[in-house]
Formats: sequence, C-alpha cells, structure tokens
Amino acid sequence: HNLNMEENDSCSLMGSNCRSKGGAPGFKVAILGAAGGIGQPLSMLMKINPLVSVLHLYDVVNTPGVTADISHMDTGAVVRGFLGQKQLEDALIGMDLVIIPAGVPRKPGMTRDDLFNINAGIVKTLCEAIAKSCPKAIVNLISNPVNSTVPIAAEVFKRAGTYDPSRLLGVTMLDVVRANTFVAEVLGLDPREVNVPVVGGHAGITILPLLSQVKPPSSFTPKEIEYLTDRIQNGGTEVVEAKAGAGSATLSMAYAAVKFADACLRALRGDAGIIECAYVDSKVTELPFFASKVRLGRGGVEEILPLGPLNDYEREGLEKAKKELVVSVEKGVSFARK
Ligand code: NAD
Ligand code: LMR
Repeated sequence: HNLNMEENDSCSLMGSNCRSKGGAPGFKVAILGAAGGIGQPLSMLMKINPLVSVLHLYDVVNTPGVTADISHMDTGAVVRGFLGQKQLEDALIGMDLVIIPAGVPRKPGMTRDDLFNINAGIVKTLCEAIAKSCPKAIVNLISNPVNSTVPIAAEVFKRAGTYDPSRLLGVTMLDVVRANTFVAEVLGLDPREVNVPVVGGHAGITILPLLSQVKPPSSFTPKEIEYLTDRIQNGGTEVVEAKAGAGSATLSMAYAAVKFADACLRALRGDAGIIECAYVDSKVTELPFFASKVRLGRGGVEEILPLGPLNDYEREGLEKAKKELVVSVEKGVSFARK
C-alpha cells in the first residue's frame, strides 16, 4: 500500500474516525497531469460527476495540495493523490477511464508540433504504465500535438500487446465546443441547441468543421464560412495569444474534457446512441488516424460514422488536412518505434 496515497486519501486522514472507505457506485477515473492548468479544473469537475466513484489524481508536482483541496468537496467520488513516477502504476491500477492532460502548453508564436519533443516522451511513459496497470481502460488523450501523440500511444500499446483501437481516443471536443459557440453566435442561437461536426485532426488546417452538416440545418454565406472556418481552426491560437505567454486554453478545455469523459462514462454504463467527434484509429479515410463522429459504447468506440456528404469547400479542406495529418501521424509512429 503506498504511503503517499494513504496520506492523501481523505478517509485515511480521518484515521479511526472514518467508518467506511467505500464511495458511491460508479467508475474509477485517473487524471494524469492533474495539477496543471487543465488538470486542476478537470479534476474539480470530475469530482462533481455522479458517474465517478473513485478519482485518482497523478502528477509529477503538487498533487498532495490539489488532492487535499478537491477531497473536501461533498460529492460522491473518493479522491486519492499520487506524486511522481514511482506512484504512477498505483495511480492506474483498476481504472476504467484515464484522462491525460500532462505536458507543456504553447506560448505565442509556437505551433502544437513545437511541443512534440517534450510531450512525446511524457505520453510514451504514461502509456507504458497504462499498458501495465490498466490495459483495458478507456484512454482520453489531450496532450498536444494530439495528431502525433495518439499514434505514439497506439504504438506503445501495440508493443505491449494491449492495443485495442476502440479504447484510445484523442480529445478533439474543444474544437466542437468552439464550433458550436461561434456558429451559434453567427446564427443568433443558443449554443446548446447547435451541433457542428468537426473532423480531421487537432491543429490548424487539420481542424475541419463541416458547416454543411450543422444541426439545426443552416446555410451560411461564403463570407460566414471563411470567418467561421478560420476562427474554429485558430481558436487555440486566439487563446494562446490572449494569455500572452501564460499558457493555452485550460478552462474551456477542462469543460470540453469533462463533456467528452462524461459521454465515455455514460457509454460504458450502457447508454445507447452516444455520438461524439474524436481522433481515433480509423478507416474513414486512407489515413490510419482521423477525427470524425464515433458511436461510443461499453467497449469504447463501437462504430466510426462515415463523413457524410461534403461540399466543394470541405472536400478541398479535407485534402489539405490529410497532407498535414499524414506527416504528423508518421512523426509519432517513428518516434515510438525508435
Ligand atoms: P500545464 O503546464 O498547465 O499543466 C501540465 C501538467 O502536466 C503540469 O502539472 C505538469 O507537472 C504535468 N506533467 C508534466 N510532465 C508530466 C508527467 N511526466 N507525468 C504527469 N504529469 C506531468 O499545461 P496545460 O495548460 O494543462 O496543458 C496540458 C497539455 O494539454 C498541453 O500539451 C496542451 O497543449 C494540451 N492541450 C490540449 C488541448 C486539446 O484540445 N486536446 C487543449 C488545450 C491544451
Ligand atoms: C487548443 O486548441 O486550445 C489546444 O490545442 C491548445 C493550443 O495549443 O492551442
């Protein structure tokens, strides 16, 4: 039994005053990178999620404080903190869902690919531990560049013999969240009523909003299409520039990550008809990984939905996206095979 976990477990802090160690029935979720800009609000929001019974918070710094703080919230999930690589495997044992927002964020002037050198190694280490400790968990990968980190994770799992393509999902929900917001603004609608499929990947021109498939069905002028496509593709950069060196999107990302994780957990519970966009191992195009609408179920991704009819503008965007994506995928694969 690990010491730090004992110290950070809200129940063990109470010693003999704690009558029960059990939490509400539900799923066990680990957050890797839990003390970061995304990790902290994400941990807080997952502690509120009624589908979560156990919440493990792992980071290489500051998890004792974040854990003590969040563990005082009077919601069902039992929270435990894990600090440093020695405690990584304990953090992962028995988990149903692992969410990974670990890694460095962009500063102005950087692309997501500029993060590759640092984040590729972090993702590789974390996925090696997942393969050992919870090979059947659903993995929600947030660390950038997602277009390359998901292929890295897949290679690590393949090498460990645990790869199940339906359980590895790159999180592109923030693109959908932004698209819903910006499209709702243009249409004068409540963003909660709008759904925009966003396909491709999660960087610049690989982010391809399908405005021809917006729900409720809507038409846009060419000027609106240009404006919306550009704003959705560069939403991340808009936040990076506004934060002026203090990082990238954290709060909207934590919201998007929870929206996505909640969909995964409802699907694990057996709810039917759960469809979200995610960057996954895919045969929708000739590329090995691609973001598109997927149907989630008890086993993770149960079906990858076809792209549907695209207009000329979207077909052109798709060709450009594929050219960049193929390079990012290859970069991830060759890093992991080295
Ligand atoms: P941050 O620097 O605030 O937090 C990152 C956390 O990761 C830190 O607490 C750090 O200690 C931790 N960390 C570093 N190495 C680790 C390791 N080996 N194991 C566990 N934890 C480790 O950064 P942030 O703003 O939270 O962003 C995190 C990542 O998410 C970045 O790569 C960023 O680009 C990415 N991101 C992705 C999306 C998306 O849509 N997919 C959106 C926003 C940010
Ligand atoms: C985002 O879309 O906000 C994230 O990928 C972070 C970034 O670097 O833009």
